[in-house]
Amino acid sequence: MGKVYKVGLIGCGHIAETYFRAHKYFNNFKIIKCADINKLAAQKCAKTYKISSASVDELLKDKEIQIILNLTIPNAHYLIAKKSLLNGKHVYSEKPLAVSFKDGKELIKIAKRKKLFIGNAPDTFLGGGNQKARELLDKKVIGKVKFGTGIFAYPGIQSYHPNPEPWFAKKGGGPVIDMGPYYLTALVNLLGPAKEVTSISSKGVNKRTIGVGPKKGKRFKVECPTTYFSTIKFHNGTIIRLTLSFDVISHLRNHIELYGENGSMIVPDPNMFGGSVLISKKLGSKWKNHQTNKMSLGKINIRSQSSRANESPTNANYRGVGLSEMINSIQMKKIHRCNGNLSLHVLNIIEAIHLSARNNKKQRISVKCEKPKPFSNKEELNIDDGFFKNFMGIINMYKKEKDLIYRDLLIYFTEYFFEKNEKSSSYDKKSFFEKRFFILKNINNFFTYNLNHNTLIHSIEAKLNE
Ligand SMILES: NC(=O)c1ccc[n+]([C@@H]2O[C@H](COP(=O)([O-])OP(=O)(O)OC[C@H]3O[C@@H](n4cnc5c(N)ncnc54)[C@H](O)[C@@H]3O)[C@@H](O)[C@H]2O)c1
Repeated sequence: MGKVYKVGLIGCGHIAETYFRAHKYFNNFKIIKCADINKLAAQKCAKTYKISSASVDELLKDKEIQIILNLTIPNAHYLIAKKSLLNGKHVYSEKPLAVSFKDGKELIKIAKRKKLFIGNAPDTFLGGGNQKARELLDKKVIGKVKFGTGIFAYPGIQSYHPNPEPWFAKKGGGPVIDMGPYYLTALVNLLGPAKEVTSISSKGVNKRTIGVGPKKGKRFKVECPTTYFSTIKFHNGTIIRLTLSFDVISHLRNHIELYGENGSMIVPDPNMFGGSVLISKKLGSKWKNHQTNKMSLGKINIRSQSSRANESPTNANYRGVGLSEMINSIQMKKIHRCNGNLSLHVLNIIEAIHLSARNNKKQRISVKCEKPKPFSNKEELNIDDGFFKNFMGIINMYKKEKDLIYRDLLIYFTEYFFEKNEKSSSYDKKSFFEKRFFILKNINNFFTYNLNHNTLIHSIEAKLNE
């Protein structure tokens, strides 16, 4: 069985909760300590999640910790990631990699030199929505993609975030730094790397008002442009028109639309993991709905309203999968998907958008990256430490859903587990078939006789451990 990596969290703010929840889905890491520039925030986080807190420097030097999870604000990503690497630790940061391309390049260099992994959000492109779109594009369902549009537009973070100022700061502020990584990473996953960019920007208002928290009602200055219209040309020839704005009250446009030679595709929100991919192959025809809610990273897991923009009541949010996949890649000695080269390329596009808007000139993207490999369901199963643990994790994940899909899933995983073990494991043939038969019988009994879920889990676990 592979090991569980010990993670130290730096930056105990808004998004930390989502990563603690990821323990439920991915069991190859455990956040064991936390730190924050704000000592009280770290202490509160430690108390909530029953872990210990430390100072940032103590955490960086802690020998028990193998990976730093960097959930600080964008302006601090570079420094914390750099210190993590220099202290001999792998690092996984929230998006973006850094706020300047120069700093991002330096981080990739250090990671290479120190032979450490550097990973970066967003990992939403590993979710059902973007992966389904990728699968359909790779199958050439709409043919070669020639053009497309993308839009993220809303009134800004100040209404629901107690500390919104960094989102409007001169350095590190604006919608391209904040939301660009989701759209650009999703587009690179679908179309490959970008080649050149032109852009124009505008600032909606000069001052904003904080809507929640202790500073509610306080006015603060907007120091950066808050709306960008960009045109991005990709190496494969596709041209995308991207709108990113903090100045729009409401809109009813789709997140990403791709126009191919044989049809058009609507790609679900790249800030989420699930959603349907829609395809129309004829003018005026019905849009065919390719659902993702049966995919393991498309299944709805958020059912209660949260104040955060990325969590509405019917969404799939599996943030943390990128960290888990990176850990799996460390163990398997392979390149992870949310890797430094991908996030550096995205940062290169972000900086090019800013520069083009400022200079009114086309900007070339200087660093390329590989298009990430598709993330298949089979591989998702292999994310954690050892197939056995994964198998049990999956069973537990679907615990409350005593329906036929759950039964089919259990049977599927059982067969898959044994198929995998047949080739490699130490099971002898007789006990192998006996175990398989026992488990399948128990699964069927579970449904037929409405047995207790824990009884089923324990019986499977005991049998596999025999
Ligand atoms: N809030 C969201 O819904 C959301 C969603 C996805 C991604 N993100 C990303 O997650 C990151 C954090 O966002 P957030 O909303 O949690 O922000 P936040 O302001 O709520 O929390 C950031 C925390 O980092 C701490 N911090 C800042 N500089 C630090 C430093 N130098 N050393 C140690 N700690 C430091 C702050 O004290 C704060 O507690 C950002 O990169 C953001 O883009 C946020």
